[in-house]
Amino acid sequence: MEALHPDVSEVVLSEQDIKDIVTRMGDAITADYKERNPLVVAVLKGAVVFTADIMRAIKCPIAVDFMAVSSYGDGVKSSGVVRIVKDLDTKIEGRDVLIVEDILDSGLTLSYLIRMLEARGANSVKVAAFLVKDVEGKKPAVHPEYVGAHVPDEFIVGYGLDFAERYRNLPYIGILKPEVYS
Ligand code: IMP
Ligand code: MG
Repeated sequence: MEALHPDVSEVVLSEQDIKDIVTRMGDAITADYKERNPLVVAVLKGAVVFTADIMRAIKCPIAVDFMAVSSYGDGVKSSGVVRIVKDLDTKIEGRDVLIVEDILDSGLTLSYLIRMLEARGANSVKVAAFLVKDVEGKKPAVHPEYVGAHVPDEFIVGYGLDFAERYRNLPYIGILKPEVYS
């Protein structure tokens, strides 16, 4: 097995765990979107690794497009302010849109995105979130149709998720040691 990154305190999902989750999510999405040619919208950059995997686990025709939004800066807390850094190339009027997200924390980023895509006339807008962070006493603003796994209220890195642009290339999901970001 690969050595654990020294900044990571614990592996939450191994490469094999991730594979199994992606297969299960892909099967569910395939069953729901057969013959609807959904537009899979990946939210850059965090979701890029998950998107590359989930799009190949979906066994019906799809199209893929990308959006980049900024809600975090280099910090660890969601600001609630969402800025579109890169918009879609695709017209989504009448389309069934499936937003692919890396992690749902407050849900503020996603709820903003959903409202925006609905306002553009999408036929449906649903969410596949690889991770949902469980924060005690807090309910996220969005309920994803597809959830990969729940993670504790810690700072999570790997499999696309970064802290200040680092750790995205770790092949597993891990908890970042607090001393790295505090
Ligand atoms: P939300 O708006 O609070 O749901 O934040 C969602 C976005 O914040 C995600 O798409 C991630 O880019 C980022 N984010 C939230 N929690 C984490 C984390 O634990 N590690 C890395 N990025 C995170
Ligand atoms: Mg992000």
